[in-house]
Amino acid sequence: MAKTSERRSKPIALLGSAGLCLVLLCLCAFSTNADAASVARSLIGLEKAASRLMPRAVTSSYAYQRMIANIGGASSTAGGNQVPNVLTGSVIASPSTATPNYFYSWIRDAALTAKIVVSQPTLDRTLMTNYANAEKVHQQNAASSSSSQGEPKFNVDGALFTGPWGRPQNDGPALRASTLMAFAKRIGLNDAFTTGTLYKSDLSAGSLIKTDLEFVSHNWQASSFDLWEEVQGSHFFTLIVQYRSLIDGAKFAGAMNDPGAASYYNQQAAAILSKLQSFWDSSNGFIQAYQGVSGRNGIDCSVMLGALKGWDTTDNAAAVNATVFGVASDKVLATHKKYVDSFRSLYAINNNAAAPNAVGVGRYPSDVYDGDGTSQGNPWYICTLAAAEVLNTAVSVANARGSLSVTSTSLPFFQQFSSSTSTGTYSSSSNQFSTLTSGMKAMANGFVNIVNSHAWQNGSLNEEFNRNNGFNQGARDLTWSYAAFVSNDLASQGKYLAN
Ligand SMILES: *[C@@H]1O[C@H](CO)[C@@H](O)[C@H](O)[C@H]1NC(C)=O
Ligand SMILES: *[C@@H]1O[C@H](CO)[C@@H](O)[C@H](O)[C@H]1NC(C)=O
Repeated sequence: MAKTSERRSKPIALLGSAGLCLVLLCLCAFSTNADAASVARSLIGLEKAASRLMPRAVTSSYAYQRMIANIGGASSTAGGNQVPNVLTGSVIASPSTATPNYFYSWIRDAALTAKIVVSQPTLDRTLMTNYANAEKVHQQNAASSSSSQGEPKFNVDGALFTGPWGRPQNDGPALRASTLMAFAKRIGLNDAFTTGTLYKSDLSAGSLIKTDLEFVSHNWQASSFDLWEEVQGSHFFTLIVQYRSLIDGAKFAGAMNDPGAASYYNQQAAAILSKLQSFWDSSNGFIQAYQGVSGRNGIDCSVMLGALKGWDTTDNAAAVNATVFGVASDKVLATHKKYVDSFRSLYAINNNAAAPNAVGVGRYPSDVYDGDGTSQGNPWYICTLAAAEVLNTAVSVANARGSLSVTSTSLPFFQQFSSSTSTGTYSSSSNQFSTLTSGMKAMANGFVNIVNSHAWQNGSLNEEFNRNNGFNQGARDLTWSYAAFVSNDLASQGKYLAN
């Protein structure tokens, strides 16, 4: 969602100095000393603007309602539907129609959003069926595009978006297949909607899941644009979600009496897993986000997102398995530390807060997209929440497994929480386990507090918050920001997205 030909003038700096801003944030958002806060405000004449810096308690149920308010035809208890006259079931990235115009449906954002819907304790079958039917329209229209199912975004009526764009984006069909398989498993493999619309072994029948799995299994080696729609190459995020879709797809195809497909998907998944190994940068100790892309250092939020969307959420052992880049594995935790540390001094609002303090984190350090045009990159809600979700997931998995392992790879990550940590496996009854997991929990809560303190007064989340003054920036009410909020909240309770 970063490509745009339009430019907008730079946001007006509300505060002359980032240092003052920090003082203000601390006093207003976190201090109970109202006098000190009002002194600080009057000192710099910001009485009015400062009220917007009060902490907002964005709750998971509120975020969920805001999220579904951006789906065509869905009714939401929070402000009704924000996207009228949109194809029923089509998930719109944001209601914002100008500066920037995100009033489109992206396959990726839609699949990640519908994954939240299908992961709720009570299944909203109507909403999921509407999503599936809207994707059927997208999928049929994509067939006439030169990118085929790698076509990334569609108009709100479901028609192909034909303007120039970064094509193809081959993570979309993988994410959509994963979401629809989770839906099929919830309604049952024998359900008429599963057998009639979602999966038919006859490829020419054009069923949703089969079409996507075939596309992924035959095209994963192709160069593709990244999830930020900026660079073409080979991407960790794209590959790991493709891997996930094919591993699960193989089991699914097997269960749907399609053994030939099952075997082919397994074979391609194994090849993807082998390719994924090359993204581990052993000399620098982190997972590189891309290959074939120049001008970047490889540190990227997409690795956190890939680990979160790429693990088998039914298997706690897989979560800690570094071969599959499990979300709680040493390689991912090591990358988490390098990733978060990259933004400590980069964004003024972070005030170079030392580890293990949470800070606002963005897509990648050299980002220049400002939410509408190009100037300077900012912290993003989805990335700050992903940083929390990795920690929450790792703690929940450790609790479920009854132990936590510290390896030489993850040692720097764990030493953030206790400098005397050494390598080893700590059982949940040990002091070391409690120290480390409570440190991780506190850091995760810190990321969520940052999100809350930058939300609008009405609880709305844009795409980003300004790196210097902390105010919301970029597309308003970004559907994915809300999805990320709910997803992290589930992980903090030891609940994961449906698989
Ligand atoms: C990690 O995952 C790989 C791929 O699924 C598997 O072959 C390996 O046995 C797993 N390792 C452990 C320790 O479970
Ligand atoms: C919340 O307030 C912001 C800032 O005024 C606005 O952009 C956004 O549309 C509002 N959200 C809702 C859902 O009303």
